[in-house]
Amino acid sequence: MTDIYSKAQSAADFIHARTPLLPSIGVILGSGLGNFATHVKDATRIPYADIPNFPRSTVQGHSGHLVLGTIAGVTVAVMQGRVHAYEGYPISEVTFPTRVLGLLGCKTLIVTNAAGGIRTTLQQGSLVAISDHINLTGTNAALGPNEPRFAMVPGAGQRFFDMSSAYSLKLRTLAIEEAERQEFLLTEGVYLAVLGPSFETPAEIRAFRTLGADLVGMSTVHEVIVARHMGLEVLGLSLVTNMASGVLDQQINHEEVMETGRYAEKQFTSLLTALIPQIAIEQLVAAKIKL
Ligand code: HPA
Repeated sequence: MTDIYSKAQSAADFIHARTPLLPSIGVILGSGLGNFATHVKDATRIPYADIPNFPRSTVQGHSGHLVLGTIAGVTVAVMQGRVHAYEGYPISEVTFPTRVLGLLGCKTLIVTNAAGGIRTTLQQGSLVAISDHINLTGTNAALGPNEPRFAMVPGAGQRFFDMSSAYSLKLRTLAIEEAERQEFLLTEGVYLAVLGPSFETPAEIRAFRTLGADLVGMSTVHEVIVARHMGLEVLGLSLVTNMASGVLDQQINHEEVMETGRYAEKQFTSLLTALIPQIAIEQLVAAKIKL
């Protein structure tokens, strides 16, 4: 058993044996945002190390648990911690948990990250809804033989698949409207992904701005690519943990990234907690329309 589909299925089988919960929404928590997982009710917490074939994170601040439970009555699967390509993992391992979330039954993926702000009007500590991405990591998560069994909705699992609406406009709009209700501004932005682990040079950031990027980070795009391959809807949220290299006359460090996450935690948690039941309703409406 070496193919990714069989490996992902055996991970999903293992998780199903640990809990009868069937999640409809998957959440991947980025750097500094892992605390959201503590808000999950009636939680079954499974260390990544226990799940067959699951990669283990090596970065400080990514604790490495899959948490199944409920948020506002909706069954969710929350990844507290993720692995990154800069740790040396092949992209197939970076995206493995996303494949498993799809096999567990999640129809929506909420993917979050810490990002550097390229657009100069962004504020450190603010949240941004990702409208699109630019993948400059030099690779693609769907490389290799196509696996049509990963189709989680009819029509998905194709060799060549659309990325023109990778980040759902509907979900982004829900998020922006909910932020408005909670009296904070959620702007939209284009996320550009680099491999890392070095932060960028000021010249790179100027180049990325010219390319149309608002945010820069070292994750997310590959998870979104496989989510779209499976036919999942995606909501992407970035937390601007720092202004990108050269925007301010100061250096960037990982501690600052983590500290900003803790600072923004309350806003992030209340946004997500309010959004999750709205997304669940959207899923029900979409399912009914298809019947
Ligand atoms: N660059 C890349 N990744 C990041 C940054 C950054 O400035 N901040 C948080 N993740």
